[in-house]
Amino acid sequence: MSQEPFDFDGAYGGGYERLARTVIPGYLTSFHQALALLRGRLGPNPRVLVVGAGTGIEIVTFKTAEPGWRLTGVDPSAQMIEIARHRVREAGVNDGVHLVHGRADDLDEGGFDAATCFNVMHFLPDDGAKQALLRSIAERLAPGSPFVLFELHGDRAASHFGEYFAAWSRYWEIQGMGEAERTEFRAKIDEGIHWISEARILELLAAAGFEDVQRYFRSLLYGGWISRRSSSGK
Ligand SMILES: C[S@@+](CC[C@H](N)C(=O)[O-])C[C@H]1O[C@@H](n2cnc3c(N)ncnc32)[C@H](O)[C@@H]1O
Repeated sequence: MSQEPFDFDGAYGGGYERLARTVIPGYLTSFHQALALLRGRLGPNPRVLVVGAGTGIEIVTFKTAEPGWRLTGVDPSAQMIEIARHRVREAGVNDGVHLVHGRADDLDEGGFDAATCFNVMHFLPDDGAKQALLRSIAERLAPGSPFVLFELHGDRAASHFGEYFAAWSRYWEIQGMGEAERTEFRAKIDEGIHWISEARILELLAAAGFEDVQRYFRSLLYGGWISRRSSSGK
């Protein structure tokens, strides 16, 4: 059994979506916001890459609203891909949905018309792994294509970080999370989240080949940014 604090192939992955709905302010809204933004930028029947497909919530949300979208979801967790497959089947939106057990790097195909990456990059250390994730996404997008990134983030040295973190912890309680679960979740956060500031996110996006970055959302320590792969494709 894996000892990872966020073990998506174990019990954490099995209970992930219930937890996400509790602790991420605006979790469900975040997918509708991405849908609304992408709808305005995409033509008919686009190919959309969903990196870190998780339980399949993004894919089902997008596909239900936009049956013409062709969606490829990747996730390195066998359990999460299985949950996503089940979710997609249950929702009856299999047509044009391709789920791959692996990372964006494992895809042979490229030239996607859009990509999303929600709640993934904060698990990766800023030792080249975050940058590699963003590059692997940029490399699979057609030049000029939009990319939506949604991330837990923050500059731990900044004066407001403590206030926001404390507020976020209170939010879990307000959402009904008991004390024992809060303590356990806090320990996971301390061990497994690799915090970076918004400025660093912007730097990583630029270095990966994304431009015209706009922040469209903030809720406590979560943020959403839309950008596009540079039109030169570099
Ligand atoms: C917190 S879940 C987010 C799932 C979904 N995007 C959401 O917001 O509900 C993170 C997911 O990212 C996956 N993941 C971890 N590292 C990844 C990587 N390098 N590339 C793609 N997915 C990754 C995990 O297996 C997990 O399913």
